Amino acid sequence: MDEYITIALPKGKLFDKSVRLLAKVGYSAENVTEDSRKLVISNEETKVRFIIAKTVDVPTYVEYGAADIGIIGKDVLLEQDKDVVELLDLGFGRCRLMMAVPETKRRAKLTDYAHLRVATKYPNCAKAYFNKLGIQTEIVKLNGSIELGPIVGLSEMIVDIVETGRTLKENKLAEVDSIFTATARLIANRASFKLKFARLHKLVEDLRIVLNEEEK
Ligand code: PRP
Repeated sequence: MDEYITIALPKGKLFDKSVRLLAKVGYSAENVTEDSRKLVISNEETKVRFIIAKTVDVPTYVEYGAADIGIIGKDVLLEQDKDVVELLDLGFGRCRLMMAVPETKRRAKLTDYAHLRVATKYPNCAKAYFNKLGIQTEIVKLNGSIELGPIVGLSEMIVDIVETGRTLKENKLAEVDSIFTATARLIANRASFKLKFARLHKLVEDLRIVLNEEEK
């Protein structure tokens, strides 16, 4: 127990639940908040260090060992294909990647969407999805506010995450096809998982117990 465990936490939708869950298994520190100016927060007593990172960067911190573990959505893992160990499905942050078009532009069959432009934050997942369908499309990578694409004529379709469906509704977009469902995952750096196995194994087991309790 003399070595620190560094945890990369994603800013955004998964942040609060991640902090709350980790605190339940003794992994906490004072003032771990999303808008903290301090980006590294340590708890000397429990030897835990938190890195507050941009969501898409969490797997990078973990892959390079700058963080031993991290919490990140399966959607980001599927998009990035980083070399990390997936330790546990945390169950929260359920969302789905889907393809949508403006409500007024729905077509009869999926193949009717061929040769159109797709705006997305998930170019690799979108490419794999359309390739599997045998549909050729042009993929335009954006970093956020994907729904804007069809509104301003940048693209005819979007491939994006839906959680409550509110954003789709507000932008008059209709879901055409669901691609996959994703939840938050606990990931680890490969070397850390071996070198700090006892502590990480205990963390996973403790989290499992808390998650099972919560499910009841
Ligand atoms: C995600 C996603 C949608 C929205 C969906 O964006 O890209 O825009 O959430 O959630 P809903 O179904 O509950 O409305 P995020 O908030 O992560 O920000 P971004 O648009 O800047 O990527």
